[in-house]
Amino acid sequence: MARQFILPVILQIVFLSFTLSVKVCDNQFDYDNPFTTNCHDDPDGDASPKDIIDRWGISTQIEHTLYTPSGYQIYIIQAVPLDASSTAAPLVFAHGIGLNMRGFLSLQNSTLAYNALLQQKRQVFLLANRGTIFSTGTNNGLTMNDYNYWKFNFEDIALEELVLAINLAKQQTGRNPIHVGFSMGNTIGFVLCSLKPDYCTQNLAGIVALAPIAYMDNYIPSAYGWLSLFWPIAQPFAKMLWNGNMMPRNPQQTKMCLTNSITMMGCYVSKAVLFGFDYDGLNWPKLPIIWTNNQDSIGENVFTHFSQNINSARFARFDYKINNVAVYGTPTNPDYEVEKIPVKVALFTGKNDALATEKNAQKLWNKLPVGSRCSFTSVNSPTFAHDGFINNKNLYTLVVQPVLTTVSQMEQGICNP
Ligand SMILES: *[C@@H]1O[C@H](CO)[C@@H](O)[C@H](O)[C@H]1NC(C)=O
Repeated sequence: MARQFILPVILQIVFLSFTLSVKVCDNQFDYDNPFTTNCHDDPDGDASPKDIIDRWGISTQIEHTLYTPSGYQIYIIQAVPLDASSTAAPLVFAHGIGLNMRGFLSLQNSTLAYNALLQQKRQVFLLANRGTIFSTGTNNGLTMNDYNYWKFNFEDIALEELVLAINLAKQQTGRNPIHVGFSMGNTIGFVLCSLKPDYCTQNLAGIVALAPIAYMDNYIPSAYGWLSLFWPIAQPFAKMLWNGNMMPRNPQQTKMCLTNSITMMGCYVSKAVLFGFDYDGLNWPKLPIIWTNNQDSIGENVFTHFSQNINSARFARFDYKINNVAVYGTPTNPDYEVEKIPVKVALFTGKNDALATEKNAQKLWNKLPVGSRCSFTSVNSPTFAHDGFINNKNLYTLVVQPVLTTVSQMEQGICNP
């Protein structure tokens, strides 16, 4: 009798602990108070990008499934405002490393995507890089369990899926899009336009770089700076541990982080070591959604490529070492020639961004052709960190408003260096 009663209860507890209804609270300490009325369930918890944007009710969504030339399935979502402008340049959003496209959506009406749709009536295209949620298939026989699936670096992402997204946006709207990239999302724009300047002249209206990542070095105040030094030694162990798919989504770990305000703080600090610490910008009511939805796999070679660049203090193509001659015809891997980027570039930097430092953004800026320099904006907050560009509690005022202004100016050819 007792067993009949206990078993369903245990099953229910186990079952409940694996569902993904996400509790969010208004303030930090509400997460510790079981009696507060400041908490509720957020429907965005693990929702698809389409469902999230559908709920906004300001656009219609078209889903595209495309394949890159090397056989990776790529998901792109196109949002068309209800009264879309026929003249405004569309925006192509590219997400960062360790993230997926939902990073651009979690803050809802504070996001750039929402306000570009609502205020500027622009079409918005969101690209999901290979290996992230919704871009997991192939037609080349590889699966995500194969080590060879993960043998791509950020140049492959630039030349394959970013080109797919730009071509799609142009074909659907008849206008050259503006590329909006966060972190690695802008790296791939710089890579593409350095290697294929003619393609960019013909197909791209500009690049908006949120937390620009091109030049880095071991002295950046991010753990990635010194982790890179050890990466050549650690890489074989990482391969054994993850088989190319580094840091895959881990709902159990996320759940542990979300136990209470102390575990949340602990998990935030472990990320701030990489990104910069910004307590004032912490978005407590959104942290559970940010962590549940936005983290995603890192491809091993993407990580290796960045580490090579950090260790060499260069912005350069993948270093194949002994095979460089076969691949590039030179013993050293070539630099990306950012001085060839032919389109307008707007940089947005955070004063406390440990990964994309202002000093390194300045280095990039100085190498860009004078005619391509559109604007260099340091976000107006002394503690603004890397992830602030998608997560900061004051995102709308600090980022969205200035970026929307810049996008309009870029489109009209008015830029303020
Ligand atoms: C977002 O919506 C909330 C109400 O749901 C409102 O209080 C807030 O001002 C809005 N923010 C922006 C930037 O529109």
